[in-house]
Amino acid sequence: MSKKLRDSWGSRLGIIMAVAGSAVGLGNFLRFPVQAANNGGGAFMIPYFIALLLVGIPLMWVEWSIGRYGGGFGHSSAPGVFNSLWKKNRFIKYFGVIGIFGPLVIMIYYTYIESWTLAYSFFSLSQKYSGILDQASMQSFLRGFQGLEKNQYFTSIAPAYTFFLITFIINIVVLNYGIRGGIERFCRIAVPTLFIFGIILLIRVFTFGVLDPSKMDWNVFNGLGYLWNPDFSQLLNAKVWLAATGQIFFTLSVGIGVILTYASYLKKGDDVALSGLTAVSMNEIAEVVLGASIIIPAAFIFFGPVAIGDVAASGAFNLGFVTMPLIIGQMPLPEVFGFLWFGLLFLAGVTSSVSLAQPAIAFLEDEFNISRKKSVAMFGAVTFLLCNAAIFFLGKGVVDELDFWGGTFCLVLFATIEVILFGWIFGINKAWEEVHHGADMRIPGIYKYIIKYVTPIFLLVVLGAWFFQEWLPIIRMDNVSLANRPYVMATRAGLCLIFLLLAIMVKIAWGKRKKGKKTL
Ligand code: ALA
Repeated sequence: MSKKLRDSWGSRLGIIMAVAGSAVGLGNFLRFPVQAANNGGGAFMIPYFIALLLVGIPLMWVEWSIGRYGGGFGHSSAPGVFNSLWKKNRFIKYFGVIGIFGPLVIMIYYTYIESWTLAYSFFSLSQKYSGILDQASMQSFLRGFQGLEKNQYFTSIAPAYTFFLITFIINIVVLNYGIRGGIERFCRIAVPTLFIFGIILLIRVFTFGVLDPSKMDWNVFNGLGYLWNPDFSQLLNAKVWLAATGQIFFTLSVGIGVILTYASYLKKGDDVALSGLTAVSMNEIAEVVLGASIIIPAAFIFFGPVAIGDVAASGAFNLGFVTMPLIIGQMPLPEVFGFLWFGLLFLAGVTSSVSLAQPAIAFLEDEFNISRKKSVAMFGAVTFLLCNAAIFFLGKGVVDELDFWGGTFCLVLFATIEVILFGWIFGINKAWEEVHHGADMRIPGIYKYIIKYVTPIFLLVVLGAWFFQEWLPIIRMDNVSLANRPYVMATRAGLCLIFLLLAIMVKIAWGKRKKGKKTL
């Protein structure tokens, strides 16, 4: 059988930028500040850093290592990578389906939200929202844009759909050029650019002073204090620990299946230890330094110490697409700063969404021997159809449902499976050797024990806590309105069908391979 030449990264900087691009996303600039503000401020950072050290960093090393290992056998998606790690087991490849299914499900709604940031970049430049001065009107602007209501700003969903199409096409074009020519080339420009945008916005917020001399305490330092001053009583609350762990998963893009796919394009002797840690550090700078210093401190300067609580509790979308435009509207040069804010979110979004697409594309390429271009076209056609569910049923609870299964549940489940597979089945001694193969740093020995014992136990406890606290209410849809329940049920049925189809595809692919071997 002729072996296809595998795509690969052009440079070490390239893969670090791509992994950092996958990690740095809407989660850093919208999700993180809201999570921190609503879960005890500075006290949130204690479980956050504990989860980073005990789960985030170890999983990053695990995914880089198993990805590079699986890539050595020609596999870039989780079914094949898992199968390479545990060759004797016939079923393990089916667990790998989660590593294609999860990112695909996130992609369905993530690309749509990403397209709002592109639209708002244009609205900033064209000053479309510049006359709006209050929260309620800005909210109507957003709802009109999303097609949730017809109003004086928007009479149909057509503008939102147009921006979605443009965003989707940008993603497909980047993916079409492959790993080195598309993803790497794009991330090498987009990641530094988004950092520059973030630094400019941070300087802008820090030099704001006060708006009203009679309210001297409405300043950036008190805004930072609001986010960072710890409320230690929150540490006894299990919800805060779950929120912090969930944030670490989401922000680092670990447990999704995308990092292992990126790492599979490394060469056997390439470093994974230092590169993985560098990507984590870049993400944490974007999150803890930039993400924490823009939106909440800016909102504090404008809304003051009393109203900020409600503003932060109103959620990430409200903060990003309603509060931020209002704040920016009151700054000098609102077009420029609006463009920088939404442009930053857009670049952060695209560098993440292309990574979400790659596992499914790699699966088609590797396991069915389909060319890159055809795989991208097939993936594009199917995902495009699925995205319509997120677009047209946004107000019906569909996006929340996709986010729960794809963006929360699957992450923890997949991470638990991969860390047990690596530390216990593959074996920690072999795993330790694998991580250090070609490494440019030695990982502290304690991580051998963390990867083997602490990370899996931590994850099993989180899964267990979820199971006890939330399983039944979620299955029974306690938090879903009666009107939305049919849509949520339909989404669940659709998700089961997608999972089943992917599992059948795995069966077919391996069946073919067996036949191929027999006839050789
Ligand atoms: N890691 C990506 C984000 O933070 C998914 O948005």
